[in-house]
Amino acid sequence: MSDLITRLWPNPTTQTALRGLYLNSPLLPPDWTGQTFVYSNFVTSLDGRIALPDANGTGLTVVPDSIANPRDWRLFQELAAHADLLITSGGYLREFAAGLAQDSLPVSTDAPYSDLLEWRRDQGLPAQPDVAVLSSSLDFVLPDAWFADGRRVFVLTTADTADTAALQLQAQGVELLTFPGTAVSGRAVVDVLAARGYRRIYSVGGPYVLRTLLADNVLDTLFLTTVPRLIGGTGGPGILEGLPLDCPVDLQLSSLYYDGSAHEGVGQLLARYDRRR
Ligand SMILES: NC(=O)c1ccc[n+]([C@@H]2O[C@H](COP(=O)([O-])OP(=O)(O)OC[C@H]3O[C@@H](n4cnc5c(N)ncnc54)[C@H](OP(=O)(O)O)[C@@H]3O)[C@@H](O)[C@H]2O)c1
Repeated sequence: MSDLITRLWPNPTTQTALRGLYLNSPLLPPDWTGQTFVYSNFVTSLDGRIALPDANGTGLTVVPDSIANPRDWRLFQELAAHADLLITSGGYLREFAAGLAQDSLPVSTDAPYSDLLEWRRDQGLPAQPDVAVLSSSLDFVLPDAWFADGRRVFVLTTADTADTAALQLQAQGVELLTFPGTAVSGRAVVDVLAARGYRRIYSVGGPYVLRTLLADNVLDTLFLTTVPRLIGGTGGPGILEGLPLDCPVDLQLSSLYYDGSAHEGVGQLLARYDRRR
C-alpha cells in the first residue's frame, strides 16, 4: 500500500507522504494572531454519517468500519500530538465503558505511534495532552489510566458540585468546573481553558460538542476526512447535530489531499477548513 497522497489544493498538484502530513504541517494558520487555537476532526461517509447505531442494541452509536480506517486514524493521532488539551464528552466515556470506542484517548501508546510520543518529548510537551470532558449528566466513569501520566482532567458541567457523581469525580482527582444553565457554552469552555494556559485545544467530541463550539464561533479549524462511500442508516449522526445555528459559520478550504489507498482503493479526501476571519 502506498504511503503517497496527492495534494489537490493549494496548487500545484504534488505527491507527498501521508505519514507526517498533519504532524509536520504548521497547525496554526500563517496569519494567526489569536491566543487559543481550537480545532476538531471528523471522518464521514459521503452521505454525511459519522456513526451508526450499535448493532448490539446498547443504544449508543459507533463509528462503523465502513468509514474508520488506519490511515485516517494516523492523521487523527498526529493532530492529537499537537494538542495541549483534548475536549471530549460524556458520550465518549459511555462508549468507552461499553468497549465501543476506537481507542482510549490519544496520543496512542501503541507501537505505530511511538514517533508521536517522541515528537512531543522533542517539543518539550508533556507525554499526554490534558483532558476536558463536557457533560451535563455526569453519567459516566473516568478511566483511572487517564491520571497515570499526571494528566490534568477537567469536567465542565452544569450539574451541582454537591451531586454524588460530582463528589466522586472530585475524589478521583478531577477538577470540576460548573456553569449555569443546561449546557456549557463554547465561549465558557474556551475562556476557562485559556485562563489555565491552554493554547492548542483539540476537540475530539462528536456533533453536539462541535455545535457547542460553533454556536459561539470559537472553532478555528476543522479537519474533515470524507470516505466516498454511501452507507445509509437511520439514527446515525452527521458532524453537526442539534438546533440550527443562529449564525452560519463560514469556513474556507486551506488544503485538500486525495488518499487513493484507504479502504483498499475506495480512497478518501483529506480536507482542512479554517474559519474565515
Ligand atoms: N466519525 C467521527 O469522526 C466521529 C468523531 C467524534 C464522534 N463520533 C461519534 O459520534 C457519536 C457521538 O459522539 P459523542 O457522544 O462523543 O459526542 P456528542 O454527541 O458531541 O456529545 C454528546 C454528549 O456530550 C455532552 N455534551 C455535549 N455538549 C455539551 C455541552 N455544551 N454541555 C454539556 N455537555 C455537553 C453531553 O453529555 P451528557 O449526556 O453526559 O450530559 C452529551 O450527551 C459517537 O458514536 C461517536 O463515536 C464520530
